[in-house]
Amino acid sequence: MRKIVLLGSNGQVGWELQRSLSPLGNVVPCDRSKVDLTDLEALSTYLEHERPDVIVNAAAYNAVDLAESFEDEAQKINFDLVKVLAEYASLNNVWLVHYSTDYVFDGVAVLPYSEEDVPNPLSAYGRSKANGEYAVITSGCNYLLLRTSWIHSSRGSNFAKTILRLAETKDSFSVVDDQTGAPTSASLVADVTALCLYRIVNGTSSEDLSGVYHLVASGFASWYEYACYLVSEAIGLGVKLSCSELDIRAVSSSEYPTKAIRPKNSRLDNSKIQDVFNISIPDWKICVKRTLSDIARQG
Ligand SMILES: NC(=O)c1ccc[n+]([C@@H]2O[C@H](COP(=O)([O-])OP(=O)(O)OC[C@H]3O[C@@H](n4cnc5c(N)ncnc54)[C@H](OP(=O)(O)O)[C@@H]3O)[C@@H](O)[C@H]2O)c1
Repeated sequence: MRKIVLLGSNGQVGWELQRSLSPLGNVVPCDRSKVDLTDLEALSTYLEHERPDVIVNAAAYNAVDLAESFEDEAQKINFDLVKVLAEYASLNNVWLVHYSTDYVFDGVAVLPYSEEDVPNPLSAYGRSKANGEYAVITSGCNYLLLRTSWIHSSRGSNFAKTILRLAETKDSFSVVDDQTGAPTSASLVADVTALCLYRIVNGTSSEDLSGVYHLVASGFASWYEYACYLVSEAIGLGVKLSCSELDIRAVSSSEYPTKAIRPKNSRLDNSKIQDVFNISIPDWKICVKRTLSDIARQG
């Protein structure tokens, strides 16, 4: 049976990939308890032992603000590790699935970014992810490099959970209104990854499909609009909150300074992945509703 090694299997996307990839073969989950991914020798030994047919890398250093102070740490996971994976994939002729981010762009464009646009990251996190992309693209391996954005899930920490916590405990709060992007569920990323990989492992001339794709939900919102939607839908689901969407104040990025600078325009054009793989990607609100009901069910 085909063996798929899944790194970062306990993360938001990794957890969903354990489910979505399982019909494609023997999924071997790898979390921190199996290999510390900063230990590249241990990783090489692990790969030699497992001999995967496909590597899916959902591991990442995602602490965007912390990365400004610990850029070396971010580079270890987002670049050094990825370089080793890409070299292994190239040498052993195995497919590599890797994830990247809207934060590789500077966000000054007016239109959504396409796969042809050139990265120009504003932050240490963005630089480390852009370096990882470069390592994959130049390695000579067959790859799916999937850029995504604004991940939400009932698992782990994310904006959706932060907003619900704030709305439970505060009468009002502020959210940035001048950064736009697509809230995207971890399960959508995992499901679409499985659909793409199915085509690749079962098709002929699959190397033609190797490349960069934008895997984000359709539509877009500002963080403020997203927060308002979360709160009004949560109220509709019967979640007890201390405020409503009317109590959320829209502020500009300059009124809400963070260590890392974020792109104003985080919109990624997802038409390529829909066209090439003949799939349809739903609007962000559909997936946010599902995440909210999962969170509400967990209490
Ligand atoms: N989250 C977002 O909003 C977002 C946006 C755009 C792109 N992306 C990209 O999407 C992908 C998936 O993100 P995600 O949100 O699912 O990430 P996540 O929830 O933060 O999961 C990352 C995983 O990597 C693991 N990891 C980190 N350092 C490790 C180490 N030294 N050894 C072993 N495991 C290690 C973590 O393990 P522990 O749980 O043990 O720490 C965690 O399970 C990443 O490539 C990310 O850059 C995410």
